[in-house]
Amino acid sequence: MTHKVTLIPGEGIGPEVAAATRRILEAAGVQIQWEEFEARGAQYGEKGPLLQEAAVESVRKNGVALKGPMTTAIAGGAPSINVALRKTLDLFANLRPVRNLPGVKSRFENVDLVIVRENTEDLYSGLEHEVVPGVVESLKIITERASTRIAKFAFDYARKHGRKKIHAIHKANIMKLSDGLFLRSIRNIAQGYPEIEYHEMIVDNTCMQLVLNPQQFDMLLLPNLYGDVVSDLGAGLVGGLGVVPSANWGDKAAMFEAVHGTAPDIAGKGLANPTALLLSSILMLDHLGESPAARRIEKALEKVYREAQHTTRDVGGTAGTNEFTDAVIAALPAS
Ligand code: NAI
Repeated sequence: MTHKVTLIPGEGIGPEVAAATRRILEAAGVQIQWEEFEARGAQYGEKGPLLQEAAVESVRKNGVALKGPMTTAIAGGAPSINVALRKTLDLFANLRPVRNLPGVKSRFENVDLVIVRENTEDLYSGLEHEVVPGVVESLKIITERASTRIAKFAFDYARKHGRKKIHAIHKANIMKLSDGLFLRSIRNIAQGYPEIEYHEMIVDNTCMQLVLNPQQFDMLLLPNLYGDVVSDLGAGLVGGLGVVPSANWGDKAAMFEAVHGTAPDIAGKGLANPTALLLSSILMLDHLGESPAARRIEKALEKVYREAQHTTRDVGGTAGTNEFTDAVIAALPAS
């Protein structure tokens, strides 16, 4: 069957890693009709930010999107297009599976955890103002509705994927009302899933535990800001942002994306590593019911990393994007 998927290659190395990913999916025999849209953040090149309504409509209609990185202005400028997309499409759950990729050097082995981050509120609500010169206020919004919804998503995910344990991560010892509400909402949902072990842990301790003994965790469930920070920490455990996938889910659409940035230092040079977007596209294939193709691509990727003959410079190899892509295609097992 042919799937319709919205493709937003993004900026910088985005178009390069998107083209590589498309080539590999095609070689694996997955039938996808791509609807491609340009979108950009605030600073790349001369042009201003762009998010076409048609792109958003396309994701709404198709229900599935693959997205590359986009620039975000720091300390001022236009709001993030990434955040705008998540909000407009109400993609409330961010999923970051963190697993060792065989052959990729990392600080830890046997890490296999899933990080679920609430994507729509918390300090990312963008509600900031200057009270008086020299004093700014930023509002942390936590609602029972969003906390309950993300908890349900995490527990359903655990049940569906055979995960045994969820840690809810918080700072409710200090933010008693906001993080307290987050925790209470999760506890209510946890009661309906007695087969899944439920734990709570304060976020600072979680960071320490993750770098001491990441294997103790199965799933982590966090509000937006802690989730953003801890999910990159998670990537660091297994080799960095270049080797972990990511997905944003809503009730009506799912957007799969590379979590690294636009890499302006290597953009356009044919050096980008497409692994992160490819891994995200593997999550997308599972979502589309194309799991056999997903497993074949996974096997090919693992073979290329294990043999370490055609890996890219960011992971210690010498290959460019095309050589790496060709090697993955050549390693695809027969269907
Ligand atoms: P970055 O991830 O773009 O680059 C950090 C370093 O990692 C650079 O040396 C880069 O060459 C390398 N790198 C990243 N991805 C790579 C890949 N696939 N292959 C090989 N090397 C890779 O982070 P940076 O420099 O902080 O951000 C650059 C821009 O990207 C900023 O405008 C930032 O806002 C944006 N950004 C966008 C994201 C998104 O759209 N999801 C996420 C993170 C950053």
